[in-house]
Amino acid sequence: MVSYKELGLVNTRELFKKAIEGKYAIPAFNFNNMEQMQAIIQACVEKKSPVILQVSSGARKYANQTLLRYMAQGACEYAKELGLNIPIVLHLDHGDTFELCKSCIDFGFSSVMIDGSAHAYDDNVALTKKVVEYAHAHDVTVEGELGVLAGVEDEVSHETHSYTRPEEVEDFVSKTGVDSLAISIGTSHGAYKFKPEQCTLDADGKLVPPPLRFDILAEIEKRIPGFPIVLHGSSSVPQQYVDIINQYGGKLEAAVGIPEEQLRKASESAVCKINIDSDGRLAMTAAVREVFAKKPAEFDPRKYLGPARDELKKLYMHKVENVLGSAGKA
Ligand code: G3H
Ligand code: 13P
Ligand code: ZN
Repeated sequence: MVSYKELGLVNTRELFKKAIEGKYAIPAFNFNNMEQMQAIIQACVEKKSPVILQVSSGARKYANQTLLRYMAQGACEYAKELGLNIPIVLHLDHGDTFELCKSCIDFGFSSVMIDGSAHAYDDNVALTKKVVEYAHAHDVTVEGELGVLAGVEDEVSHETHSYTRPEEVEDFVSKTGVDSLAISIGTSHGAYKFKPEQCTLDADGKLVPPPLRFDILAEIEKRIPGFPIVLHGSSSVPQQYVDIINQYGGKLEAAVGIPEEQLRKASESAVCKINIDSDGRLAMTAAVREVFAKKPAEFDPRKYLGPARDELKKLYMHKVENVLGSAGKA
């Protein structure tokens, strides 16, 4: 049993309170390897932003949970070495069982998500409550979810959204004791969030997706005022990365994300955690493909992972400064 406190990590409680009061959102960036972790920490230290390092169960399998924990501990030391002891959370993304959440808590995570959204309401309540009881005994914070996002997450895919029902949130929050709630208002996982036929074309021929359901968000906020809300599936799928990937041999067709202005607007509400993974994947892939295309004789991994890390850092700095508003809040 390792407590996250010994590793230099923090839970989300204080961070969310300040984020709601200050009308910004904390970035939750997924990581699976050293370069992603370095880019996240470099960007957040330089921009003086708190950060949530997010680990999916897929990441845990890919990278090994022991290594990930030591990397998170290393991230705290690395931040200090770079000059600022920013608040860092180690969070389990989309935990699906009590056992997985418990294992992460016992292993040094400071925050876990129990995603019971695929279950019937009462089963979601019971599972979430069980995780909360265990987590709170260790001062670990818990994110629950109501509503189902369209798209793919950890190999489970849903064709359509099932928006969060505002009439359920009060009951869910009070019965489970969760610290934050992920909701479904039109975001979805992955790079293909909308089908082209759902979008309109702007003057430059760019696909413009339907807006997020801010009406549902407002209704939820009315029912649980000041309660921390989380948005998953919040990548914006920057067109410049899609273009670079396609220019250098990739094949990403009709990839559409959430416009950044909408995320900026959401950050000013009770939305205090915004999850971004796919944009980082696109940034890395674009940088790696460009090196491979322009320097085909290169075979030193540092020569393509280095530029990928630099591009990621630029992306994360942009997100915290211009989208989430968390720059300067560490
Ligand atoms: O919500 C899903 C995250 O983007 C993590 O994706 O399960 O492929 O690691 P992953
Ligand atoms: P994106 O696929 O939009 O980056 O969403 C990531 C996410 O929600 C992780 O939980
Ligand atoms: Zn998610």
